Amino acid sequence: MCGIVGYVGPRDCSEVLVSALSKLEYRGYDSAGIAVFEDDKIKVAKSKGRLLDLVDKMKKEGRPCGHAGIGHTRWATHGEPSDVNSHPHSGKRVTLVHNGIIENYKEIKQFLIDNDRTFLSDTDTEVVAQLLDFYYDGNPIKTIHKVLREVRGSFALGIVFADHPGTVYATRCESPLIVGQGLGECFIASDVPAIIQYTKDYYLLEHDEIAVLKNGTVSFCDLHGRHIEKDLKTADWDPDSAEKGGYEHYMIKEIHEQPTSIKTTISPRIENGMPDLSECGITPQMLKGYRQIYIVACGTAMHAGMVGKYVIEKLARVPVIVDIASEFRYREPLINEDDLVIIISQSGETADSKAALELSKELGAKTLAIVNGKGSSIARAAEMVIYTHAGPEIAVASTKAYMVQISVMYLLAFEMAYANGKITEEECAKLTKSLMSTPDYIEKTIEDLIDDCQYISTKLITADSLMYIGRGLDYALSMEGSLKLKEISYIHSEAYAAGELKHGTISLITDGMPVIAVVTQNTLMEKTVSNIKEVKARGAMTIIVCDQYANIEGDVADYVIRVPQIDEILMPMVGIVPLQLLAYYTSVNRGNDVDKPRNLAKSVTVE
Ligand code: M6R
Repeated sequence: MCGIVGYVGPRDCSEVLVSALSKLEYRGYDSAGIAVFEDDKIKVAKSKGRLLDLVDKMKKEGRPCGHAGIGHTRWATHGEPSDVNSHPHSGKRVTLVHNGIIENYKEIKQFLIDNDRTFLSDTDTEVVAQLLDFYYDGNPIKTIHKVLREVRGSFALGIVFADHPGTVYATRCESPLIVGQGLGECFIASDVPAIIQYTKDYYLLEHDEIAVLKNGTVSFCDLHGRHIEKDLKTADWDPDSAEKGGYEHYMIKEIHEQPTSIKTTISPRIENGMPDLSECGITPQMLKGYRQIYIVACGTAMHAGMVGKYVIEKLARVPVIVDIASEFRYREPLINEDDLVIIISQSGETADSKAALELSKELGAKTLAIVNGKGSSIARAAEMVIYTHAGPEIAVASTKAYMVQISVMYLLAFEMAYANGKITEEECAKLTKSLMSTPDYIEKTIEDLIDDCQYISTKLITADSLMYIGRGLDYALSMEGSLKLKEISYIHSEAYAAGELKHGTISLITDGMPVIAVVTQNTLMEKTVSNIKEVKARGAMTIIVCDQYANIEGDVADYVIRVPQIDEILMPMVGIVPLQLLAYYTSVNRGNDVDKPRNLAKSVTVE
């Protein structure tokens, strides 16, 4: 879960590498480093801490000057974050950066130690650098091939050889890597935002392919050195979309981008007022007749799946099981060719979700991926793909990706329900129309609630712990609201099905403890309000999120946050907004690094 970059071209390489790495810090940010050919010699600069710490260090100690090199931003897996464990790592003639994990690094390390090699770091990466050096015979491709036959795991590597100045080699297995081609310059990167300010044209490197970047152009070969022709792709992202654009943090910018992201995602999938996924190659026939549906994902994406479960079950009347990818993959799931497995992932690279997808395919189930990362591993491996068009999501805390994921869940549920004959054409068109109107309501909700949420968050900042409660779709929202708050504010919180409280958890309620109750489902309102009264009677400070017309008695709530009333089934789309804003402002008010919360990384490409 790191970011790697590389550059060959006329620009100042250190500057390009630092700038590209700054767009990949979401992948990890506990240390950073670069290696650049300076006067035909590899010069390395690296530092524990954020990229800015590396920049400061280079200001004091000098930075490598040249036109070809590699860079890395790290999320530590093997060895604590420290200067010495930071990438790049070197053997005598080889220096490299690595994203991923080398599973058999211990055996290889022992082999190298037995052959008189010594190690500086605790990383698995240094083992690859040393092994390359051990086998190096002056032929980089042959040596990379030999090493790739011995290492096991997931990796993307950017490599420079001391006796091939000005050339960068790259290869990958499992971990993602793209190769950008600009005018007289070329790049490698773990993700498109890193290079988009320089070029929109890029190649997707496949497993066991090698890219050779030299004299500003790139060529590709297989492990035997045989030339490969590849298709150049063009990113449809605007370079500005990976910038903060005047906002203080990416997270708040991305919250504001939600209405646009929904429009861009759903518009191409609606024809004559009806959901139509043919743009994604999906016909109604492909969505019907399943025995059961599994939705498998991690974190926020899994919470989007919870919304999907309620909506698909309610409308299409097919049983839906939502599973955490890391659980699903190890418990021999009871699926077969009569089932559909839906994988949801923003990055499309999450290791557990990817493994769950492979397992589902092995077991014969049909697979459908809902993915934001274009050309990502999950998108490429699934039989059916619906891309969400959120654009780059940089903040670690996911907001707009969740929003587009649930909007796709709605479209899917409407089309499935109609295909299964569970709703009429008229009902389907009505729901689709309501969905199309949500961006305007969301925009208004954001504008109207910013001040309220900023104020109410000041009541949360000193809490040790809080609770989110709700029923049905509101429970699904509570889970996401709770995750959002804890991941960026570092305040402990739990999401509970409101009706479960008195089976144990209500004992946690103490005087002044904040309880955020989500009550957007009118059909369940009475029941949830009773639960709110129960916690209020035990001293809780209650914050209620409900629609604009909900009749909430004065003594039930300390604070009421009202969102527009839209079709009840679509209420999560407006209901999630105040939960995102509360989390955001609580984090800001506690002085946290909102976009880069401690211990986390955006793309979890390791188990
Ligand atoms: O890229 P993915 O959607 O597969 O990532 C899944 C989770 O890691 C992710 O949603 C995570 O929970 C978010 N950072 C939470 O805000």
